[in-house]
Amino acid sequence: MNSRTRIITVANQKGGVGKTTTAINLATALAAIGERVSIMDLDPQGNASTGLGVERQERLVSSYDVLTGRANVAQASMQTAVPGLSIVPSTLDLLGIEMEISGAPDRVLKLRKALRDDESSNGLYSYVLIDCPPSLNLLTLNAMAAADSVLVPLQCEFFALEGLSQLLETVEQIRGSINPSLEIQGIVLTMFDRRNNLANQVVADVRSYMGDTVYETIIPRNVRVSEAPSYGKPAILYDLKCSGSQAYLQLASEVIRRERRLRAA
Ligand SMILES: Nc1ncnc2c1ncn2[C@@H]1O[C@H](COP(=O)(O)OP(=O)(O)OP(=O)(O)O)[C@@H](O)[C@H]1O
Ligand SMILES: [Mg+2]
Repeated sequence: MNSRTRIITVANQKGGVGKTTTAINLATALAAIGERVSIMDLDPQGNASTGLGVERQERLVSSYDVLTGRANVAQASMQTAVPGLSIVPSTLDLLGIEMEISGAPDRVLKLRKALRDDESSNGLYSYVLIDCPPSLNLLTLNAMAAADSVLVPLQCEFFALEGLSQLLETVEQIRGSINPSLEIQGIVLTMFDRRNNLANQVVADVRSYMGDTVYETIIPRNVRVSEAPSYGKPAILYDLKCSGSQAYLQLASEVIRRERRLRAA
């Protein structure tokens, strides 16, 4: 993978905040505007793979194989129904990874090495989005070590900010040790319900605490977005016009603008 590929890790150790939904729909939106995108499903739950219509029995080569050096990205990639979007699916093999590599001195660098040394995918992708599990475990650390930037979904609920400082500290540690150029791409507020006063308060709090790091785009709570994965489709394919799809298209243009800025810096 050459330096022109931007690797964005979607991470938050809290469960159910919209990481996978964001990875799938942001990737689809980027592909829709002509980027060549790969999703790396690094969660043993495999929701990104399922949500993009890749059945378990089809996952012959997986992110586990990439992480452990058994396959390169080109070998592990599967084309999705979205033109320009492929996925490296996950399998339950990932559950064993902590045990398997925890003794290795380069245990946090496995994915970084696999991606950076991988010439098979040179020029194939402009973006790689990594979908992380809800944990700051070795998989998430590998994703942060491999990435150019981290994108953090925050659900608009009372405890939204809980855990954020721990996440940001982890990013700092990775930056201070193995990946000095790691940036925060941004924080995206998800599942916003404007009829809920509390949600409005959460938006105001997160903006005052995190400032410009927070994207202007807010992803609304939208039933079409939650239905789409059961059809094995991104929301943007399932219902382009729904408010959730439109918000993810808008988020993609903000992400691209920020990437240009980060690249120039
Ligand atoms: N904008 C939205 N509107 C409605 N439902 C949503 C929205 N975003 C996500 N959801 C639903 O919320 C649930 C959690 O979302 P998602 O799986 O993306 O979170 P996650 O952070 O990846 O979860 P995990 O931590 O388990 O990996 C899913 O059922 C998803 O369909
Ligand atoms: Mg997920």
